[in-house]
Amino acid sequence: MTADTIVNPRTPVAPRRKGVNLEKWGWLFMRGSGVLLVVLIFGHLFVNLMLGKGVLGLDFAFVAGKYATPFWQWWDVIMLWLALIHGTNGMRTIVNDYVTHNGPRRVLIWALWLVAAFLILLGTLVVFTFDPCIPPVPDALAGICPA
Ligand code: HEM
Repeated sequence: MTADTIVNPRTPVAPRRKGVNLEKWGWLFMRGSGVLLVVLIFGHLFVNLMLGKGVLGLDFAFVAGKYATPFWQWWDVIMLWLALIHGTNGMRTIVNDYVTHNGPRRVLIWALWLVAAFLILLGTLVVFTFDPCIPPVPDALAGICPA
């Protein structure tokens, strides 16, 4: 092959390895999570900003009301997990594209997943352990929280 021959674009850069093709599953995950995120994010914005009193109705009691139902807890937690894993995997792609040295590339990708894991843990704990009745109880919840 001479230097000016154009290589078939489908030629693998390295011999195909056996086992699970993580890049393929990552690619599929980005498309699947993207579709789900559209529903979750726009559903979230619609319910919070447009239904009822709209944005004027947003206060502590509104959040407390939402987190009193497992449906909204799971909606928010799934949105959090998907957005963080999707965003982190997207950042991993960008790091792989631009950081050419192996050391810094590995450090950055580890840092990305560590931050994502920490935020997923923290966010999940906040949603599922949220208790609006910890004093001082706001007036709007006085009738709901035990005295
Ligand atoms: C609204 C719903 C969303 C949809 C439909 C969506 C869709 C996608 C798709 C299809 C890709 C892959 C692009 C490619 O491989 O060329 C992508 C990449 C990416 N997404 Fe999302 N996404 C959404 C929300 C988000 C959110 C909330 C974040 C951040 C937390 C995010 C961050 C990223 C990043 C950093 C990339 C990598 C960009 C790149 O490769 O250049 N996306 N998104």
